[in-house]
Amino acid sequence: MNISVIGTGYVGLVVGACLAETGNTVSCVDIDERKIDGLRKNVLPIYEPGLEPLVERNQKEGRLGFTTNLQDAVTSSEVVIIAVGTPPGEDGSADLKYVLEVASLIGEYMAREIVVVTKSTVPVGSSAKIAAAVAKHAKFPFHVCSNPEFLKEGAAVEDFMRPDRVILGVDSAYARRVMSELYAPFVRTGKPILVMDISSAEMTKYAANGMLATRISFMNEIANLCDKLGANVDLVRIGIGSDSRIGQSFLFPGPGFGGSCFPKDVRALVKMGAECGVPLDVLAAVESANERQKRLLLQKLRCALGTKLGGRRIALWGLAFKAGTDDMREAPSLTLIDALLDEGVSICAHDPAAAEHARALLGNRIDYAETNYEALPGADALVVVTDWNEYRHPDFERVKRTLRQPVIVDGRNLYDVEKMRELGVRYYSIGRPSA
Ligand SMILES: NC(=O)c1ccc[n+]([C@@H]2O[C@H](COP(=O)([O-])OP(=O)(O)OC[C@H]3O[C@@H](n4cnc5c(N)ncnc54)[C@H](O)[C@@H]3O)[C@@H](O)[C@H]2O)c1
Repeated sequence: MNISVIGTGYVGLVVGACLAETGNTVSCVDIDERKIDGLRKNVLPIYEPGLEPLVERNQKEGRLGFTTNLQDAVTSSEVVIIAVGTPPGEDGSADLKYVLEVASLIGEYMAREIVVVTKSTVPVGSSAKIAAAVAKHAKFPFHVCSNPEFLKEGAAVEDFMRPDRVILGVDSAYARRVMSELYAPFVRTGKPILVMDISSAEMTKYAANGMLATRISFMNEIANLCDKLGANVDLVRIGIGSDSRIGQSFLFPGPGFGGSCFPKDVRALVKMGAECGVPLDVLAAVESANERQKRLLLQKLRCALGTKLGGRRIALWGLAFKAGTDDMREAPSLTLIDALLDEGVSICAHDPAAAEHARALLGNRIDYAETNYEALPGADALVVVTDWNEYRHPDFERVKRTLRQPVIVDGRNLYDVEKMRELGVRYYSIGRPSA
């Protein structure tokens, strides 16, 4: 099939590359000329494991192209996928500005019957607005499809290639047939393609993110309670996760969720509820619990070093909002860094992938280390913010030797409490006994 993907970010680039990998001819479009120039030379604007070889191979074999020319891309496409950003507006609702701009241009440039697919996360009812924007200029028949994306940054290629399910919100047999055909190679192991009405598809995406964010905030609060009452959240987590109704995933406490999806999607869902008079109290609490959780590592540092932190130096391991990505959007590290800098703390941080994005946001307000060990000299404590694999088994003797004092605040519960005790490290984690 000839496909264009509009918006070549974390989602659009993965979608474009994976669809090319199954033999389609894909044109990825973006307004960011630098991004497109780089991609033409196989220079990826994001860190995403496994993506670079896909881009390189499919581009070399002529199935994947990059352009800033929306008209050229749309004119030759049977399926046009919208994957531009839907950032939060001032009131928390998803801003559809970019999506609707693109929809209107698709209507203008389409040159045959097409399916217009919304991959961007959009509030329930948006597809009707998208259809109206396309219809304003359309000279050919078109069909809309809500096809929300469930990939996880850090495992995006794997998730797209082997999805748990594909959701298709359609209002025509044509869209259903074309989209089912497009996804058939990705569900050969029997994972379902769930075809539904458009509103239900749009809602499914928000409900999924709302549920996942709820699990995180719930476990964070349980962990904080474990801290106070002397229980160990590691044991509690396994204890409740063994219940088949609950399951083990998404039960790890941490420094709060971030990224480009959960925070904004929770806010947008709360807003959607408010607009139609349905209070979503659980989700409103999920958001406020998360804001509080983002300040937890600061409190832990105060427990470790005393209430006045000014003049101290802190080593941070991890800046990205989670491991496996360079995405810094709404990262808990930013809340911690801002609070520490306000108090006159100096910071040296390491991140294997996100340092460049962090530098763009923070400039030289903090120091950046090339390796995790280089962040440590002169630091009064090490704070682990992101659960990168390379932080899981460090040389603890070296860490202890290099820090000014052996203090570790672990925001991801990566280390064994008993081992830290034996090493003589003053160790603070979340919902577990301190050493
Ligand atoms: N990042 C994720 O993990 C994820 C997962 C599922 C769904 N989503 C949703 O997918 C959408 C995109 O997210 P993302 O993280 O890829 O965003 P992103 O910011 O990484 O990428 C968006 C891209 O769209 C481009 N763009 C903006 N306006 C454009 C226009 N008029 N024409 C062409 N390109 C344009 C931007 O330059 C940018 O490259 C959002 O709605 C998001 O909620 C994201």
